[in-house]
Amino acid sequence: MQEDHFKCKLTTWDYIYDLCLDVADQVKDSGYGPDVIVALARGGWFPGRVLCDLLGLDDLESLKIEHYVGTARTGEDPHIRYPVAPDAVEGKDVLVVDDITDTGKSLSWAVDHIEEEHSPGRVDTAVLQFLESSTASPGYVGEVLDEWAWIIYPWNFIEDMVDLVGRVLGDEPLDMGGVRRELRERFELDGLWFEVAQPNRMEEVMEEAERRGVATRGGGGWLRA
Ligand code: ADE
Repeated sequence: MQEDHFKCKLTTWDYIYDLCLDVADQVKDSGYGPDVIVALARGGWFPGRVLCDLLGLDDLESLKIEHYVGTARTGEDPHIRYPVAPDAVEGKDVLVVDDITDTGKSLSWAVDHIEEEHSPGRVDTAVLQFLESSTASPGYVGEVLDEWAWIIYPWNFIEDMVDLVGRVLGDEPLDMGGVRRELRERFELDGLWFEVAQPNRMEEVMEEAERRGVATRGGGGWLRA
């Protein structure tokens, strides 16, 4: 998220859970019976946990891959921040799970890493949401998004909102109406939908933005800290 105007889509727990149900149905219909889910940290954690429940799996592993950009490196290199426990996937059929595939890099790096380092059985992939920009083709997809948007997941609500608030605040104080207007105009966050999806959360978002050193009160509103 670098620019100051882009489309955001705010999602709800119910909506996300439905996508998990769709993915689980696809896995079951395909006949694939993974032994273990490897959830990519952090976005894959909620879907990974729910898919364990829906598919009847006990084993849930985490893999955190970071993207290195720039410095002496050219392009982007994967860096395995927190690997999976080796015996958790060795000889096992694996389902790698993430929330969204955007560039597709995390998913393909994860598969390569597991296949190269851990001698698994079969490795397949599942995501809740798929963007056309992705170079990876996951085996199971909850939904295809026809245009790029930043998806605000319920487990990431405060983190994303504090980030967005930081982008709209500046040297001129904005009251709550002003913050909401900027969020609508710059990030297509519709105020009505916002109150349906996350009712009465804006005060909390602003308090958190203040606590995290992003916003400060002044002039009858909020300013960039
Ligand atoms: N992570 C990577 N791409 C994303 C997107 N478009 N929305 C939310 N999380 C993401």
